[in-house]
Amino acid sequence: MNQRLLPGFKLGNHTIDVPLVLAPMAGITDLPFRKVCKPFGVGLVVTEMIASRAIDKSIKVGRERTERMAELDDGEHPASIQIAGSDSGYVADAARWAVDHGADFVDINMGCPVKKICKQTAGSAMLKDEKLVARVIEAVVSAVEVPVTLKIRTGWDEPSKNVANIARIAEQCGIQMLTVHGRTRAQMFQGHANWEDIGIAKDAVSIPVIGNGDVVDGESAKEMIRISNCDGVMVGRAVQGNPWVLGEVYAALMGLAQPAPPTPEQRWAIVIEHMRHLADHHGVRSASKLARKHVIWYSKGLRGSADFRSHFQVMPDWQQMLDFAETYFLGLSEHDTGEMQHSSETVVAD
Ligand SMILES: Cc1cc2nc3c(=O)[nH]c(=O)nc-3n(C[C@H](O)[C@H](O)[C@H](O)COP(=O)(O)O)c2cc1C
Repeated sequence: MNQRLLPGFKLGNHTIDVPLVLAPMAGITDLPFRKVCKPFGVGLVVTEMIASRAIDKSIKVGRERTERMAELDDGEHPASIQIAGSDSGYVADAARWAVDHGADFVDINMGCPVKKICKQTAGSAMLKDEKLVARVIEAVVSAVEVPVTLKIRTGWDEPSKNVANIARIAEQCGIQMLTVHGRTRAQMFQGHANWEDIGIAKDAVSIPVIGNGDVVDGESAKEMIRISNCDGVMVGRAVQGNPWVLGEVYAALMGLAQPAPPTPEQRWAIVIEHMRHLADHHGVRSASKLARKHVIWYSKGLRGSADFRSHFQVMPDWQQMLDFAETYFLGLSEHDTGEMQHSSETVVAD
């Protein structure tokens, strides 16, 4: 018998059987990447954050980019659309719009550390104002029938850390699942996520708590669960260019043996699938830009990657990019690809 580490949980009418969540990452976890990631055992996907003001514009005049960000594939459900904003009216409208666009859950972002967002007292800046937190959650919960979930950091900064308070307010106001990235806003992406602080949130509430921050493989997922007693694990940056890490975390959660690293053929199958999805979803022009970022991540740590990167990132033509990538990835041997590097790069979005 395999010993599962986590049993999963109910979220409204849905069961999250495998509590492995793909982190929302702006500019990264669009529909094409989520389609690539889901089969590795992901139990719940979340769209990139969509600002409630952008949604308002889309409702009024139609914005192709915003509509595309909310697009969900049939195979993704149950899935969550993440919204952000601090004006209860806009956020409630945004939540209704998300449900109209097929969201099974609406996730509210109160973790984004980006200056532009925090200046409008949205994202992680909201954590400084607990009354505002309650107001926005209540507005969203009363606007929609589906479960509303919340993603937070542990506070604004170390002296004002209020993860337990926020967790309790969230539960009292009707939040049904809470994700905690174990850093304050002041920490941005520095140092290591504090998994004990995720445990503080877990102790404060009885709704499921998802732990997030610095999970890079099966072992780190197990360690986060041991320290925080969280009900699920969310993985973000480690998945960039390495969706196989999700298979490792899945195996750890399910008590299965760790999967073998991908062969060059398996790696190429994922790269080409991802590139095709990018072209279908965004059109070739935008796909070329996005593929530069993703495909270069896929090559990270592999033999000849520096040389590949320098040529690939200046290629003007989509077909040329496909051909060049195929030659590179299929030219690798098992030995060249056996050891992937896990990444937890420092970036400034959230
Ligand atoms: C490029 C980038 C974009 C992000 N965008 C979002 C976002 O749109 N919404 C959100 O809640 N978190 C966002 N995050 C934060 C991640 O969801 C996650 O909380 C954070 O990266 C820590 O987890 P990790 O150590 O597994 O990466 C973003 C992170 C990165 C690196």
